[in-house]
Amino acid sequence: MRAYTYDRFGPPEVLALKEVPKPVPGDHEVLVRIRATTVTAGDWRVRSLEVPRGFGLLSRLALGLSGPRQPILGSELSGEIEAVGKAVTRFRVGDPVFGFTGMRLGCHAEYRCLPEEGHGRKDEAVALKPANLGFEEAAALSFGGTTALSFFRKAKPKRGENVLVVGASGGVGTAAVQLARHFGASVTGVCSTANLELVRSIGADRVIDYTREDFTRSGERYDVIVDTAGTAPFSRCKGSLAEGGRILVVLGSLPEVLRAPVVSLTSTKRIIGGVVSWGVEDLRFLASLAEAGHYRPVIDRRYTFAEMVEAHRHVDAGHKRGNVVVSV
Ligand SMILES: NC(=O)c1ccc[n+]([C@@H]2O[C@H](COP(=O)([O-])OP(=O)(O)OC[C@H]3O[C@@H](n4cnc5c(N)ncnc54)[C@H](OP(=O)(O)O)[C@@H]3O)[C@@H](O)[C@H]2O)c1
Repeated sequence: MRAYTYDRFGPPEVLALKEVPKPVPGDHEVLVRIRATTVTAGDWRVRSLEVPRGFGLLSRLALGLSGPRQPILGSELSGEIEAVGKAVTRFRVGDPVFGFTGMRLGCHAEYRCLPEEGHGRKDEAVALKPANLGFEEAAALSFGGTTALSFFRKAKPKRGENVLVVGASGGVGTAAVQLARHFGASVTGVCSTANLELVRSIGADRVIDYTREDFTRSGERYDVIVDTAGTAPFSRCKGSLAEGGRILVVLGSLPEVLRAPVVSLTSTKRIIGGVVSWGVEDLRFLASLAEAGHYRPVIDRRYTFAEMVEAHRHVDAGHKRGNVVVSV
């Protein structure tokens, strides 16, 4: 099969289209013929090793000391099941599915094996595609969605609470706005001028243009602040947090995350950081929300498989709107 591989960390140009062995499903695995995948901010970080301050050594240890341990990027996919292992019970050949492989990656290819639930790794999963989404939208259901869900599980936004999302137009931000709205919160999105309408259209009650207004100076207080842009550390926005408020550090430095215990001990406010945790039930939840019309991945640009390097260049710029999809 064809796949984009890389053997050294660096810019989009390190990627090369190669012929690699087609995977063979194990007893509890399905083989997915990939129809669409995405390029996420995660792919950019893993490929380039550009990570937030303090995470350099940890990332190197996790991703590979002398070069990439996993040579194929891509954490999201959608497609059809081409073959099933002999013990698989939940899926059949031909089923339309979407999947998420988290840090295991491997989706920038024509095929990927994924384990059936309950049989193997919990950090990669596959679920039936919502009928009302095409393959391109379904491929973009998981990265932003599972990240936002993971942080909201810890922050528990309540109905009527005020949630502010910084970076509301990005992959995680567009998911966070829609999910916070679904949980009954009143949502304010922070983004640049060109994205104000988009953020409003996905359900934000209010929008703030960060090129014109500094939300920390308005006197407004929020119960939850989601920082997906790394521009709202606790020191900057503690005055904008209500009593009992939580700041969700989706993007922040290691020192920022390490402040969490001290802040919890010395105030009613909390810093919530750490690794995203998710499971197949999150994929099913996102699919059910999509089916009910409460959640829809925002698609920025669509690329062909031949344009993969171009897609990475666009993501590297750090200003995509929602998700970047590559059809395979
Ligand atoms: N902690 C975790 O486990 C975890 C999980 C997933 C993602 N992440 C990280 O979270 C970050 C966001 O991911 P993503 O997928 O949402 O990335 P993305 O799609 O590239 O979005 C980044 C967003 O940041 C906005 N932005 C840039 N500068 C800004 C500023 N000064 N003020 C406010 N917004 C600004 C951009 O909006 P404009 O174009 O309007 O400027 C863009 O929408 C990435 O760095 C990723 O590595 C962490």
